[in-house]
Amino acid sequence: MLPTQKLYEGKAKILYLTEDADILLTVYKDDATAFNAQKRGQIKGKGEINCAIARSLFELLEKAGIPTHYIDCPASDRMRVKAVKIIPLEVVVRNVAAGSLCRQTGLSEGKVLPFPLVEYYLKNDELGDPLLTRPRIELLKIISEAELAAIEQMALNINRHLQEFFVKCDITLVDFKLEFGKDSQQKIILADEISPDTCRLWDIAESDPQARVLDKDRFRRDLGGVESAYQQVLERILAKVSSAL
Ligand code: TMP
Repeated sequence: MLPTQKLYEGKAKILYLTEDADILLTVYKDDATAFNAQKRGQIKGKGEINCAIARSLFELLEKAGIPTHYIDCPASDRMRVKAVKIIPLEVVVRNVAAGSLCRQTGLSEGKVLPFPLVEYYLKNDELGDPLLTRPRIELLKIISEAELAAIEQMALNINRHLQEFFVKCDITLVDFKLEFGKDSQQKIILADEISPDTCRLWDIAESDPQARVLDKDRFRRDLGGVESAYQQVLERILAKVSSAL
């Protein structure tokens, strides 16, 4: 399928309109950014790798009864998705302390959390995606209380399924970010992507805090071996996904 009119270019993907108003085409890019795009680079092959990873994980979640925007992949770096209006929330689920949770609370990196922590950030690059509170979500009228409760349940459900699957891949799902959207019937479905760009993934067999990193932290923290880490995640997922589907 040839892309038609560009709808939006994000940091890692380009969205195109298609002949069908209910369907968009997402092209995954090799571009990588971090720290709200202050750091920019390229991860060779990332577009195709992340598209294949996201596809497998969306298929897995669909099979578990979680509605996603995924339709199919007409080529290795592109995905047809249901058109949705994105809810401007970045929903982060954490199982193990890392990243901003450690910086902001003093928890040590690697501490297993007693329960999955669901957090909401405002999806707004200009404001630097600030952490939200429930009253702030209400104040900004982003979504209703009932919709927020539904999103929280979906996020926890997604976490359960992904965590279980990643263990089979010998990977710890440390934390990840989700985005949701409303389809033409106002139904809330999972959108955006799930990939090493949006998850922290640690090799279970590796105890060294740098060697275990299989995600975008390798790029953020200049750890090297970014491409091979992404490739490793894809290979482990592909080795396990067909038996899980
Ligand atoms: P954080 O620890 O930096 O808050 O990140 C939590 C998770 O969210 C981590 O898996 C990386 C992911 N993430 C994104 O996908 N996009 C972002 O812009 C940020 C800041 C984090």
